[in-house]
Amino acid sequence: MNTYKIAVIGGDGIGPEVIAEGVKVLKAAAEVDGGFAFDFTFFPWGCDYYHETGKMMPEDGMETLSHFDAIFLGAVGAPDVPDHISLWDLLLRIRKGFDQYVNLRPVKLLNGAPCPLKGVKREEIDMIFVRENSEGEYAGSGSWLYKNKPNEVVIQDGVFSRYGCERIIRYAFELAKKEKKSLTSISKGNALNYSMVFWDQIFREVSAEYPEVPTHTYLVDAASMFMVKDPARFEVVVTSNLFGDILTDLGAAIAGGMGLAAGANINPERKFPSMFEPIHGSAPDIAGQGKANPLATVWSAAQMLEFFGHRALSDRLIEIIEEMLVEKAALTSDLGGSATTSQVGDEVVKKLLESRR
Ligand code: NAD
Ligand code: IPM
Ligand code: MN
Repeated sequence: MNTYKIAVIGGDGIGPEVIAEGVKVLKAAAEVDGGFAFDFTFFPWGCDYYHETGKMMPEDGMETLSHFDAIFLGAVGAPDVPDHISLWDLLLRIRKGFDQYVNLRPVKLLNGAPCPLKGVKREEIDMIFVRENSEGEYAGSGSWLYKNKPNEVVIQDGVFSRYGCERIIRYAFELAKKEKKSLTSISKGNALNYSMVFWDQIFREVSAEYPEVPTHTYLVDAASMFMVKDPARFEVVVTSNLFGDILTDLGAAIAGGMGLAAGANINPERKFPSMFEPIHGSAPDIAGQGKANPLATVWSAAQMLEFFGHRALSDRLIEIIEEMLVEKAALTSDLGGSATTSQVGDEVVKKLLESRR
């Protein structure tokens, strides 16, 4: 039997709470299938670990993770550790170190999910963001000169390589071609006169290889406006690291909220493990209260199943989320319900096991 080795990093705040439900659901998925198993190894890395050891993960953490088939991560960040330390030493280190250059984030309005937009039909919000995840505005290049002096200067570089832009744009074209969808590139060439002019040029070059894929290009300011006013115009979307970060929280807001927004950090070459995580953070405001919605994590688990080739199970999980949104019997308070995090997880498991019969 095929056994997938999964490294589980619950992380901080609500991270461990939602990931516990995700693990339950993955175990049930394996049981339903009968043809594969999961072997989970839990790592206590995160901000508590940092307080104990001075590090977010051990020195050989990346080497340890490299032997797994995938990583399942909750969220990272706590109010008592500077965010740029906690995130750069754990989450971003994994995304970059394992060259997970594709960040796939579905923005899909399911039946029953709350939508703050007036008069929008469910099928009008059905996008998938392909966010560049390895460089761009998150390259970590810059300097801080004359620190704490009156003349201090800070420089944060955006790094856009031909290699990096081409591969993410090509990935997005391949996806759009496979799904028979249009592809929209979101950039900002009017103001970012090097990086985004370059991005746009590469988008045009790669586009010539895919005459069958209809394309659109928007400036990021207009794109955010259209996501609210006319979301139906977006299908597959490709954009830079920072724009993708911001626009997918906007996407979450129009498609049911942070509690439903899933993400996958993919190394398409499968040279390194890919990582599956909800797009929300550690939500310190609701941590430890059983209020966190685990459905975003369950959806990320569905992405993991799809990544391993179990498409039917993955589709079934998303169907279950939709059923639960419609039934409204087991939902957390962000979705208007009164269920706890683990009650929601239990309901997903129950429905999944029922699909076996
Ligand atoms: P957040 O996503 O944690 O929370 C934003 C709001 O959404 C909060 O009101 C929160 O209660 C709500 N929310 C988020 N997830 C929810 C869920 N599953 N169910 C119900 N409500 C949910 O963003 P933030 O407050 O800006 O960040 C908190 C911390 O998380 C910071 O340290 C930040 O750096 C970190 N962060 C980590 C990740 C990650 O690890 N992938 C992502 C984003 C933010
Ligand atoms: C996300 C998060 C991260 C990002 C932060 C925590 C570094 O906001 O996954 O969306 O910006 O990528
Ligand atoms: Mn984000």
